[in-house]
Amino acid sequence: MSNLIKLDTSVNISKLKLKNPVLTASGTFGYANEYDDFMNVGNIGAIVTKGITLNPRTGNPQPRIKELKNGLINSIGLENIGIHNFIEKKLPVLRENNINFIINIAGESIKEYVELAKICQSNNIEAVELNLSCPNVKSGCLEFGKDEETLYKLVSEVRNCFNNTLIVKLSSNVSFPEKIAKTAENAGADAISAINTVKAMHVEVKIAASGLSPARNDNAIFEYIKGGLSGSCIKPLALNFIYEIRQHVSIPIIGMGGISCFQDMLEFFAVGADAIQVGTANFTHPDLSEALVSELNNFMKQQNYESLAELVKDLRYEY
Ligand SMILES: Cc1cc2nc3c(=O)[nH]c(=O)nc-3n(C[C@H](O)[C@H](O)[C@H](O)COP(=O)(O)O)c2cc1C
Repeated sequence: MSNLIKLDTSVNISKLKLKNPVLTASGTFGYANEYDDFMNVGNIGAIVTKGITLNPRTGNPQPRIKELKNGLINSIGLENIGIHNFIEKKLPVLRENNINFIINIAGESIKEYVELAKICQSNNIEAVELNLSCPNVKSGCLEFGKDEETLYKLVSEVRNCFNNTLIVKLSSNVSFPEKIAKTAENAGADAISAINTVKAMHVEVKIAASGLSPARNDNAIFEYIKGGLSGSCIKPLALNFIYEIRQHVSIPIIGMGGISCFQDMLEFFAVGADAIQVGTANFTHPDLSEALVSELNNFMKQQNYESLAELVKDLRYEY
């Protein structure tokens, strides 16, 4: 009998209707159908595109990726094809294949964010994620996401020219997460997504067999990379960030940071997320997001839940 019940895994992020709460995170899933060889991209809630700027960017010089035991440091520096190429080459692919998507945009000035938002509006883009949190660029992004006054100005100016779903992506690299999140809500954000990568550094000191010389670096080889840390090592930071902001905002929260299995997804719902994004784990398990959708369906059947909303309600940790 229970097999006949149609499960409702849908979730609404303001006007954006998602068939399920599993999304893929910006910068880890390309722009459109790059993961077609691994999964049916149409089966997940939505993909979030790589961060897109007004003009194409080549990003930072190499090395810009360092794999760690439980995570990854990247300093890609927003390499991307630019909005005009995206509209011309990628948008038709997304639309032809009926892929639900959110465009992640980034700028070096408020004017650039506004211009990008206008282009999205004129192309009827259903949802935009404002990247106010990337730590890997010299100007813009996190610079706008740290200060309440600047954030308010940026989000409200974008809000004035973009009528569809506006998601503000925040960083945990801030002193008062709850104030930043509340400011985004007050300025007109429809939802918050968090967290972006966390500022980090990897250093490797290799000492030559003859030891360190008094002239210091002669016999030591230093390798280092500064960038944004992601993957399972940041999950506790992400859970705490979401838990803290959930108590101060009433708009939906899309949680991410180190999600690599179904249990992780449930933990994000427990602390206050309404939907989740899979990021770094896509690199090692390219079909993980699709697998999470089927695990969610199986779990709901097993536990006799007809709707995601009921499941999330029962999981929510009472503050
Ligand atoms: C290689 C790489 C590129 C990324 N590029 C972007 C980006 O362009 N825009 C953005 O908002 N976040 C970007 N992110 C951050 C992710 O979307 C996500 O917020 C972060 O990695 C935390 O989730 P995770 O631990 O599941 O990866 C990038 C992350 C990685 C690892």
